Amino acid sequence: MKVFVSSSTRKTQHFAKQFARDILKPREGTRGALVVGLRGPLGSGKTTFAQGFARGLGVTGKILSPTFVIIKRYKIPDSGSLFHTLYHIDCYRIEGTHDILELGWKELVSNPKHIVLVEWPERIQNILPKDALLLEFEAKGERARAISLVH
Ligand SMILES: Nc1ncnc2c1ncn2[C@@H]1O[C@H](COP(=O)(O)OP(=O)(O)O)[C@@H](O)[C@H]1O
Ligand SMILES: [Mg+2]
Repeated sequence: MKVFVSSSTRKTQHFAKQFARDILKPREGTRGALVVGLRGPLGSGKTTFAQGFARGLGVTGKILSPTFVIIKRYKIPDSGSLFHTLYHIDCYRIEGTHDILELGWKELVSNPKHIVLVEWPERIQNILPKDALLLEFEAKGERARAISLVH
């Protein structure tokens, strides 16, 4: 498993930016959205990563945590024809998968032009697409964060 160890929020955002840019490549055998689960405890850097990721896609403006609103949507500018919308979802406060289904999850993940970042993906495990990527976040101290690509 590839592990990146970040020593600051800035480095986490830089890593996320690069990760996002690496993703902007045509995928083979794709039917739906590109879904990336961000797993790890509170304060491990998931939202910080999402901010860098969005910047890497060219999203401008404020990127705030969707903890209270559950879902946030951003237009991806100048992305050619690959992706046009980024969704950032936080499942921390949901009661069950129905909360996410009610927000139009099925349409959201069926569009191959969508990228969907999901914090607390384990809470909606049974509705995640089989080909979703999974990043694991771990706090290793006050500022060190390990980020691993699980699959
Ligand atoms: N290397 C680092 N990467 C990301 N966040 C860090 C790092 N070092 C310290 N932090 C702090 O850890 C917290 C991470 O918060 P956040 O990204 O909201 O986590 P989560 O979404 O996983 O709950 C922030 O307060 C941030 O300033
Ligand atoms: Mg968060």
